[in-house]
Amino acid sequence: MKTVLEKILGFGLEATDNPAFGDYSANIALQHGSPKKIAEEIAEKLKVNKDLTNLVDRIEVAGPGFINFWLKKEALLDNLSQIEERKEKYGTSDAGKGKTVIIDYSSPNIAKPFGIGHLRSTIIGAALYNLYGALGYTVVGDNHLGDWGTQFGKLLYMIKLKNVADFDIAKLEDLYVEFHKLAETDSSLEESAREWFKKLEEGDSEAKDIWQKCVDASMEEFDRIYKLLGVKIDFAFGESYYESEMKQMMQDPGFKKHLVKGEDGALIIDLAKEGIGTPLMFLKSDGATTYATRDLATIKFRERKWDPDTIIYEVGAEQSLHFKQLFAAARLLGLVKERVKLIHTAHGLYLAPDGKKFSTRKGKTIKLEEVLDEAVKRAKKLGNSQENVAKEVGIGAIKYFDLMHSVASNVIFEWDKIMNMEGNSGPYLQYTVARTNSVLAKAKPESKKKEGSLNAEEASVLRSLVRYPEAIESAALLYSPNLLCNFLHDLAQKYNSF
Ligand code: ARG
Repeated sequence: MKTVLEKILGFGLEATDNPAFGDYSANIALQHGSPKKIAEEIAEKLKVNKDLTNLVDRIEVAGPGFINFWLKKEALLDNLSQIEERKEKYGTSDAGKGKTVIIDYSSPNIAKPFGIGHLRSTIIGAALYNLYGALGYTVVGDNHLGDWGTQFGKLLYMIKLKNVADFDIAKLEDLYVEFHKLAETDSSLEESAREWFKKLEEGDSEAKDIWQKCVDASMEEFDRIYKLLGVKIDFAFGESYYESEMKQMMQDPGFKKHLVKGEDGALIIDLAKEGIGTPLMFLKSDGATTYATRDLATIKFRERKWDPDTIIYEVGAEQSLHFKQLFAAARLLGLVKERVKLIHTAHGLYLAPDGKKFSTRKGKTIKLEEVLDEAVKRAKKLGNSQENVAKEVGIGAIKYFDLMHSVASNVIFEWDKIMNMEGNSGPYLQYTVARTNSVLAKAKPESKKKEGSLNAEEASVLRSLVRYPEAIESAALLYSPNLLCNFLHDLAQKYNSF
């Protein structure tokens, strides 16, 4: 509706929060730099515009230069008929037709447990995936698994040292910790680990076999979690995939000229001219590639494979410097077309209820699987005795809680808020849906309202429904699923008072 009105008007509108200011409002003072009188003149002219008066039955000037618009009852009821017609498709559009968005999300690290630290990326990334899909974009989801890097040298060394044949993630995590303990007193260990990683990079078959086992053991756990969360990601190329891409990239003379020797023999890309003081580390002094090298190669590959318009990295704010460097280097090297938007969402952290960093007593990360199990248990306590219902409520609660916070803000993990049946929560929305469905089941076709007036509660639900497509669009374009959550919570409240 907003865009339809804007087209007729030729200027921008804002949805209002307060019904006293109509459904939509234009700030003429802002748009024309001139106040009330002009607003009045415009409003007078608009009152005879037929296209507009078909949709709007009240236009008023308020304050220093606002024009407020109230939608007609007929427009609200028309919209309701559209909802009935389009059903689940209501709110979708083809606004993004012909455009491709790549979303890099979840991206946990092999050989480490899936911690709560990767929850936001998984949930927000999946939400953005759905939002862009609803707007008709071609969406590519890629799980950029952390399955490569010098840490694998350490693991390989330990696995060989201890002759471990069978392992799960917990075992791998222990071996990693043990390596660092041993390395404190024996400095030759780091060197041995480097040699093992070198073997891996050179394709040594023993190193590759053990590495593959690490990947398989980890994926088993990750897949269990994705299943619980109901998240499916199109691709999981992972960092290891870019071995050959990196080698190719290094041969390219246009690329080589940007590599300079750092002090200790490392190869770096100087970004000072790009306004970034810290150079990007391309090759370490021992010749090993880095996280950043692989990310550069990934951009090159994605550009070639999907020709994207936007690449969204759904990754935490703690990696802000990395993405600044990466984007600047990608532009400098011309790895993407100019029109390609490179976005780092930079989400906030989960914090413990005391506002401190969230970790176990021993300082380890909190395992996501344990959190999800607890959520299901708590959902059962709320009276959802059936296993599948408890799962939908418990896990839905966790997902909604994550999404309702603005992406940038830190999130204090509080069970009472997550499971709160009265407030802004997943269970509250689900309860509202259940109520809606039972009303629908009882409603008779002849109770459809075409004549007469709408009471205040009816009108407020209908006014809210009009804004659903707008909520989807802004949530997608601003990379902010919380805007859709705000909308849904507001709608649920209005529906419940109706
Ligand atoms: N595996 C990384 C981590 O856990 C996240 C990867 C994000 N994606 C990327 N293209 N760098 O920190």
